[in-house]
Amino acid sequence: MIEVCKVGEIDHGESKVVKVKGVEVGIFNIEGEFYALLNSCQHQSGPVCTGDIRRRVGGDIPPLGKLPDEYFTDDYVVICPWHGWTYDIRTGKHAGDPGIGIPTYKVLVEDQTVYLDV
Ligand code: FES
Repeated sequence: MIEVCKVGEIDHGESKVVKVKGVEVGIFNIEGEFYALLNSCQHQSGPVCTGDIRRRVGGDIPPLGKLPDEYFTDDYVVICPWHGWTYDIRTGKHAGDPGIGIPTYKVLVEDQTVYLDV
């Protein structure tokens, strides 16, 4: 495990990109839990972990002529700033195609310090 930052450096709904062993990794704080994703989008290797963080929108496809009944889910996503590919922060999976995903890393928080297993 490698120390990457202090808990207080990343507020809920924010991220920080760190470089560990030559690899850029985004550390995310989602409701006090920390997650880590490789900072390389599966589309064209864009800096995905620097993108906007949002709650995922859910809803069903409505009948013709009706508006969708949309709502926010408990899932959080990061949106790649280059072309908008969107990934679940907890799993690294693409929001529209779970067959696509960004590598994730194990995170440990101890004594207000965030450690990464790279
Ligand atoms: S490089 Fe991320 S969406 Fe294109």
